[in-house]
Amino acid sequence: MKSYYGIEDIEKAANARLPRIVREYIAGGASTEYTVAQNRRAFDRITFSPRVMVDVSERTIATTVLGQRVSMPVLPGPAGLASLVHPEGECAAARATAAAGSIFCISNASGYSLEQIAGAGNAPLWFQLFSCRDRTIARQFIDRARAARCHALILGVDLPIGGLRYRDARNGMEFPPRIRVRDLLDFAAHPRWLWNALVVRRATMGNYVGLVDGASMGATASFLKERVLTPAVSWDDLSWLRSQWDGGLVVKGILSVPDALEAARRGADAVVVSNHGGRQLDWLPATLDVLPEIADAVHGRAEVLIDGGVRHGADVVKALALGARACLVARPWYWALAAGGEAGVARMFRVFAEEIENVLGLIGRPRLEQLTRECLRVG
Ligand SMILES: Cc1cc2nc3c(=O)[nH]c(=O)nc-3n(C[C@H](O)[C@H](O)[C@H](O)COP(=O)(O)O)c2cc1C
Repeated sequence: MKSYYGIEDIEKAANARLPRIVREYIAGGASTEYTVAQNRRAFDRITFSPRVMVDVSERTIATTVLGQRVSMPVLPGPAGLASLVHPEGECAAARATAAAGSIFCISNASGYSLEQIAGAGNAPLWFQLFSCRDRTIARQFIDRARAARCHALILGVDLPIGGLRYRDARNGMEFPPRIRVRDLLDFAAHPRWLWNALVVRRATMGNYVGLVDGASMGATASFLKERVLTPAVSWDDLSWLRSQWDGGLVVKGILSVPDALEAARRGADAVVVSNHGGRQLDWLPATLDVLPEIADAVHGRAEVLIDGGVRHGADVVKALALGARACLVARPWYWALAAGGEAGVARMFRVFAEEIENVLGLIGRPRLEQLTRECLRVG
């Protein structure tokens, strides 16, 4: 694979391989995409306050997340349907994650099933649930996650209803998709993607094969709408999930102190400060801006993770200095997978590792435990 210097190079390489409507589906967000931009701006507003004349010859970026050793504080977060961008989808990404020494988060809407992903390599796995309102379906997923030796379950709490994604609606990226003549021409201009999408691996939601008759995208989408993506959620669902699962429990989609405290009180081992990468509700604060108050409030009760706009090792260092244990990234691994399959995701990990280590050395804090707010300047 060509040498890419940063995540932006990986993004460019991915975009060259993907048709426009898929590129925009990945990059896009809800409504005006203010929140997508805000996530990035928050990282860019913060600069470092380096200390000099510190011996930085030994720099370490390994840490633990929910007691699990990871080689770096970067985890691929749950992102559905990765087989849309590469025929080996999540299996390739999980293999690269295992080699890099991190944890792979499987989306409930993954292209491959959690059993296939677990069988693809030996990465520690977390598995995401959209809800547990329908206890029969939730129990099946919990049993499957246990059998596949997942270390943690992630409950996504920020999608009781779907976000309004105007960009996708304009592009016809809906169920079923509305494909226009200009899209067909664009597909033809990306023959490798077209061949993979039509012949090698058609997009399905692997976890629903066997649950839904035929498991076509249309049938799966209706099943999800009727039985899984329900607006009738409550905190009791989390307590129920806690009573059914004794592995790690992660609540993803927290943006306020009261919700973070409630999640911890109900037994969550970690919360992910997340606005779903700006893909659900628009006009939300950047996740980095709410991270410090949540980290202060839940300190010692649950670990705090963050996602949304993490594109550089420097962003990871900033998030850790503001109280995060680790960062989840979604678009970066999706781009890396599209750009180069397993080797692409391996490259993404190398970029983050090299950049984090470089920043630690240059700010004079060679160990992650030394990252505090004193390392940063705001404004
Ligand atoms: C293409 C794509 C698909 C996603 N699918 C899911 C999903 O199935 N479940 C989920 O909890 N979050 C999903 N997310 C949200 C991510 O887990 C994450 O919260 C967000 O994208 C992080 O921001 P980043 O993409 O800027 O790193 C998805 C994000 C993207 C970009």
